[in-house]
Amino acid sequence: HNLTVLISGNGSNLQALIDACASSALPNTRITHVISNRKAAYGLERAKKASIETTYHNLVPYKKKHPQTPEGTQAARTEYDADLSKTILALSPRPDVIVCAGWMHILTPEFLNPLTEAGIKIINLHPALPGEFAGAGAIERAWEAGRKGEIKRTGVMIHEVIAEVDAGKAIVTQEIELKEGESLDELEERVHKVEHGLIVEGTRKTLEALKNQS
Ligand code: GRF
Repeated sequence: HNLTVLISGNGSNLQALIDACASSALPNTRITHVISNRKAAYGLERAKKASIETTYHNLVPYKKKHPQTPEGTQAARTEYDADLSKTILALSPRPDVIVCAGWMHILTPEFLNPLTEAGIKIINLHPALPGEFAGAGAIERAWEAGRKGEIKRTGVMIHEVIAEVDAGKAIVTQEIELKEGESLDELEERVHKVEHGLIVEGTRKTLEALKNQS
C-alpha cells in the first residue's frame, strides 16, 4: 500500500508512520510522498532522512495572483487546493490513502472531490473527540475546559475527511482523562503520545477496509 502524508509542522505523527512502515505495524505499506504547506516544517527533514520524496506546496504565489480581499484569499486557497490534488493524482504510484498529520489548512472540495472520485481515501488526525473542539488549538481548548470543570476527559480521533472541518466519520478514537492541576504542556505531551499510536491504528484500519472493499 502507498501513503501520501500531509504535514505542517514537527512531523512527530509522520515519524510514527515512518517507524510503523519500517516495523510490522503497517505491513507492506510505504510512505511514497510527504507534502508540507510550510517550508520550515521539521517533518520535511524527517521525510528526507527516511528517503521519502517531499514537496513544499507554497501558498504565497497563489496569494500574489489574487487581491488581498476575502474573495481573493478564498480564490487563492481554491486554486492552491485544486493544484494540490492534481499534484497528488500525478504521483506514481498513486497513494491508496492520504493521511493528514497535522496539516493546518482547511481542505476545500476542490482538493477533496477529485481525489475521492479517484477512489483515494483521505483521513485526518484531530486531537479531540468527535463533535468536540473542532478546528485549531483543540488541545488548549480542552485543557481550559478541564480547568473550569466543564469536562473530565478529552481525546484524539482519526476520521475521514469531508468538507466540514474535523467532522467526518470517526475511524478510531481514544479518550484521555484530564488530570487536576496538570499544565498544558503536560497534557500536550500525553495527547501527542496517544496521537502517535492512533495514527498508525487509524491508517491500518483504513487500509484493511480498502482491501475488503476491492
Ligand atoms: C497534532 O496535535 C495535530 O493534530 C496538530 O498538530 C499536531 C501535529 O503534530 N495539528 P506533528 O506535526 O505530527 O508533530
